[in-house]
Amino acid sequence: MANFEIKAKDGLARLGRFSTKHGTVKTPLLMPVVHPGKSMIPPRDLVDVFGFQMVITNSYIINSHERFREKAIAEGVHGLLEFTHPIMTDSGTFQMYFHDLPEEEIDPIAIIEFQKKIKTDIGTILDAFSRPDVGREQVEKDVDLSFERAKMSVGIKGEMMLAGTVQGGIFEDLRERSAQAMGRLDFDVFPIGGVVPMMEMYRYADIVRVTLAAKKHLPPDRPVHLFGCGHPMLFAQAALLGCDFFDSASYAKFADSGRMLLTSGTVHLKDLTELPCECPICSNTTADELRSLSQEERSLALMRHNLYVSAAEMRRVRQAIADGKLFELAAVRARSHPSLLEALQVMTENMKQLTESDPFGKSSSIFYTGPETALRPEISRFHERVIDRYPFRTTDTVIIVPDIGERPFSDTASTIIEEVRKRSPEEAILLFFTPMGVIPWECEHVHPAQQCIFPKTVDPDTLTLARKRLLDILDMISFNKIVWFERESPTNQIVNNLGIDKKITNTTSASETISKLAEVKAENVKWHLRKLKALLTYQWGGNVEDIAAIEGLQVVFSRSTGKIRHVTIEDEIIFTVVPTTGLLTPTFRGGEILLQYKIDDRFIVTMERDAAEFVADGKSALAKFVMNASSKLKAGEEVLVIDEHHQLLGTGRALLSGSEMLIFDRGVAVNVRHSKHG
Ligand code: GUN
Ligand code: ZN
Repeated sequence: MANFEIKAKDGLARLGRFSTKHGTVKTPLLMPVVHPGKSMIPPRDLVDVFGFQMVITNSYIINSHERFREKAIAEGVHGLLEFTHPIMTDSGTFQMYFHDLPEEEIDPIAIIEFQKKIKTDIGTILDAFSRPDVGREQVEKDVDLSFERAKMSVGIKGEMMLAGTVQGGIFEDLRERSAQAMGRLDFDVFPIGGVVPMMEMYRYADIVRVTLAAKKHLPPDRPVHLFGCGHPMLFAQAALLGCDFFDSASYAKFADSGRMLLTSGTVHLKDLTELPCECPICSNTTADELRSLSQEERSLALMRHNLYVSAAEMRRVRQAIADGKLFELAAVRARSHPSLLEALQVMTENMKQLTESDPFGKSSSIFYTGPETALRPEISRFHERVIDRYPFRTTDTVIIVPDIGERPFSDTASTIIEEVRKRSPEEAILLFFTPMGVIPWECEHVHPAQQCIFPKTVDPDTLTLARKRLLDILDMISFNKIVWFERESPTNQIVNNLGIDKKITNTTSASETISKLAEVKAENVKWHLRKLKALLTYQWGGNVEDIAAIEGLQVVFSRSTGKIRHVTIEDEIIFTVVPTTGLLTPTFRGGEILLQYKIDDRFIVTMERDAAEFVADGKSALAKFVMNASSKLKAGEEVLVIDEHHQLLGTGRALLSGSEMLIFDRGVAVNVRHSKHG
């Protein structure tokens, strides 16, 4: 029984809700580590003053001190900490590693039983932490030992939720093996362990590698915890990789040694003349005043600062996921330390994994941050879709218009667009060539074509990729010649080293461009149907392109922008277009037509009998009641929801991927927009 539900996705990140007996928390979340006896800040203040939702404490420490143990057994860990919100407990694994304690110091079964006895919300197994300096063989043994203990522990977890830690050191294959094995067991949370030494050595790139390796095999309906990750400069990137839980002992450890956590790194109080922070502590004092405090008072002040900064960054991360802007936040953070930038580069090398999970149909703006931007999931997917699905493959002339994608995009080439509208695709295909790649005119309003904001000059990597993308597109079209409309844009120079053996005519004005085109041959060209066909195939593939040819079909568009507003048949609307995404959303009638035209199965979600009426009435399609969904269905697609007899119940946008719909038993699978009864 999973307790996790997804509200929104961005990259591999999830905005979620996790339910415990002591309340539901929003993820990604950060749990401050509290010491059962010597916590300088009362745990309840962590909620009331700093806005945290859950804390983590250590069951091994509680169990090793008689006064903690007695109280925890009598009053539960909540009584011991005088805390009414959710509590996670760790097992002592880290203490064994840190203090190099002997193997027999903690009994892996007894520590599970103890965590149950003190009624923690989430307990943790006694996993085997691999020291960073040991070889592969030892790490392999640690992975196996962790798994042996995991199997024993999960069987006795009872009512308690239990975290099963993935180990494997820096070895990606061992991380995969560990995640695969752990992922098959009935854990409620999957921590990624053994990363503290990597963090201390600034080996962030390794953290990215091992996290991605583990994420490949962990079940999506359980939160992933990046164990010991408490530095706010890492939160955005780790969340983007799909980490949902974080814990921080850093806030206290760093404070004790006079260090302040910032989202841009760490600073030492001894080096400061100014306090570079807007938290209440830093706003009400000065660096000199802080230095003049006693060690204990200073530590407490820095702890508070560290908590404010960490909590704020986690809120920023959650907002960024909701906005589809987490990639940008991670890219900005990566600029504050070369090791973080290296980690970002490792992530971009593995962009396929992020793109798989990133939802389709976002509406957010995409700001250029550097060479990684053009590789972003939204942009890569746009390019791949055009290659796979753009319906026009043969033409006489390809017109290439370099552009930086300024909005409104089409206004910058309105004369050429006007001319292209008179022609069939066989006569001319118009391609805008931007730093993000190629945008066929028909898809000019589709996200992210108009949402990419690039500067007037971009880095060489971006241009190299743009050139490759242009060649990819030209490769899929059979054409006679290119007319290149020269103008000021970073992509303009690429005409000089395109390296293809087709005739390229350079022009410098719109009228000259038009004069290079052949005479208009086609009659009765309906440009709006050309656009509609391109949109239909972009969204649902070639099966449904003939919908554009239905007799009596009308495309109603905005005269000023050329954007489709809606599509009707006999005055009944079948599709509307979301202005911010440029994508079609079928009405109920539109859904029926898509079914009739045999839309690919991947866009169909089948509900169980009991839930069918709810969807027909316009309620969300809940994951728990999804009977069938394709593993090829990506989150964010426009889908049809049907019953077991293949009758349409409604249309809407998938919140989860098809595989997630089948795995999750909480939360919404499809946000239904139009339904049978209204
Ligand atoms: N705290 C920090 N790292 C770890 C880890 O790898 N395992 C456990 N159980 N706790 C940790
Ligand atoms: Zn501060």
